[in-house]
Amino acid sequence: MDFELKTLTLGSLCTEKSDALLVLLPQDFHPGGDPLSLMAAGALKSGDFENKPGRLLGAYRLPGVKAGRVMLVGVGDGSTKNVRTAVGAALGALKGSNVQTAVLFLGALGDAMADSVRTAVVACGEAGYTYSTTKSKSSPEKLGRVVLGVGDEAAATAAFTKAVALVRGLDFAKEWANRPANHATPAQLAGAAKGLGKLPRIKVEILGPKEVEKLGMGAFMAVAQGAAEPLRLIVLRYTGAPRTEAPHVLIGKGITFDTGGISIKPAAEMDEMKFDMCGAASVLGTFRVLAELQPRLNVVGVIPACENMPDGRAVKPGDVVTSMSGQTIEILNTDAEGRLVLCDALTYVERFKPKAVVDIATLTGACVVALGGVRSGLFSNDESLARALADASASSQDLCWRMPLDEDYAEGLKTNFADVANIAGRAAGAVTAAKFLQRFASKFPWAHLDIAGTAWKSGSSKGATGRPVALLVDYLMGQVLTDTPFEATSKLVKSGKKPQATPKTRA
Ligand code: BES
Ligand code: MN
Ligand code: ZN
Repeated sequence: MDFELKTLTLGSLCTEKSDALLVLLPQDFHPGGDPLSLMAAGALKSGDFENKPGRLLGAYRLPGVKAGRVMLVGVGDGSTKNVRTAVGAALGALKGSNVQTAVLFLGALGDAMADSVRTAVVACGEAGYTYSTTKSKSSPEKLGRVVLGVGDEAAATAAFTKAVALVRGLDFAKEWANRPANHATPAQLAGAAKGLGKLPRIKVEILGPKEVEKLGMGAFMAVAQGAAEPLRLIVLRYTGAPRTEAPHVLIGKGITFDTGGISIKPAAEMDEMKFDMCGAASVLGTFRVLAELQPRLNVVGVIPACENMPDGRAVKPGDVVTSMSGQTIEILNTDAEGRLVLCDALTYVERFKPKAVVDIATLTGACVVALGGVRSGLFSNDESLARALADASASSQDLCWRMPLDEDYAEGLKTNFADVANIAGRAAGAVTAAKFLQRFASKFPWAHLDIAGTAWKSGSSKGATGRPVALLVDYLMGQVLTDTPFEATSKLVKSGKKPQATPKTRA
């Protein structure tokens, strides 16, 4: 979907050429004398239209209006949540129509235009996304262009640019997450990353089984050993700041299919385990956004990618393997494989001397039980990193919730046969998984996002959500603001002055 931003008023909207005008009307709407205002005022007065979020009223060939279709769209108090509902309802109503271009008018919404623009663009992207890669015919969806009408184009440009970049990243993440496992093998996922390597400031390195063996990644290799598809370790680097600046690291779980291995999963809904690489997809999507926004930051993305399969060569319950960190692990359940590929990735990223490391993983069914599809689980060993992620979750409306990491939760991981077991009891399964990971994250500020409940939807609307790309992008963009610019620091050190908050512009 293409987006355009344009300065428009209710008056100028009437002469705007397009197939449909979608006019968002808040509850404090002040009508003017133009045909659209008159229609809205009349409909509100008669009770035929209420400007509650998502309420719609359509008109055809309205006198004085150039566009064929007009739709009044209620948006209540204009909150981001209501803008999302309103845009979703309006575009939903256009589904299956022959509308190719639409104007989405936000000019009647008061303050917080940046938030409204962002929310509207993302909601359009959401409504406009269709998966088609493995369908023989591409879908009949026609709406290909949305013009956002605002009161002051210049004031909304920054938010608009950011939001459009975010939609590209969300689409990229969804595309790879939705692909079936036979169309998204570890090698194909590496190919997707390679493709991103063609974008400005992104370099990609792919490691195969030999290199991974040399690194001593015994835990990662144990998961992959039952699969015919060879593993890949994908390393992406975005360099937007001087190379001397420590990078922010993202690690994405990239299990391209999780059968459970020898501890095999039940057949029902096992197909959904093609989504077990949604963490990896969110890292790829985030890099797609970085390439577009070019923030002054260094970011490393690491994706351990493999299948988890049962086989004559597969790892068995009770096997003990040696992780890259040197810690030995008793694999009591081969279905707790995510933490095994992630623990070696956590050790691997020590070499980057990272500012912070965030891993993103569809890690536990227990997290789905705890938080459902509303919030991702957030775990962290660092207060300021946890706060930065919680703030990003609020600003992006890609919500997460902090979970505990008390040492007592690690009790169940003790075993007589290795340094640590890969599972504990049934209780607090999302926390014990995080406690396992924490053992491998002692060298840097670390956070873990369990996205098992939020990364995809089941049922008739089965498909990837693109989460938590929006959260990760806001988190990283926030780091641009808080990182003292390299040049500024050296000057301050020389002059002996105390660092002050310098005005910085959002990238
Ligand atoms: N990929 C799954 C987690 C998962 C399950 C995500 C259901 C979404 C929905 C993970 O690899 C897994 O199988 N975890 C096990 C861990 C258990 C064996 C300790 C689980 O959650 O059942
Ligand atoms: Mn599993
Ligand atoms: Zn898994």
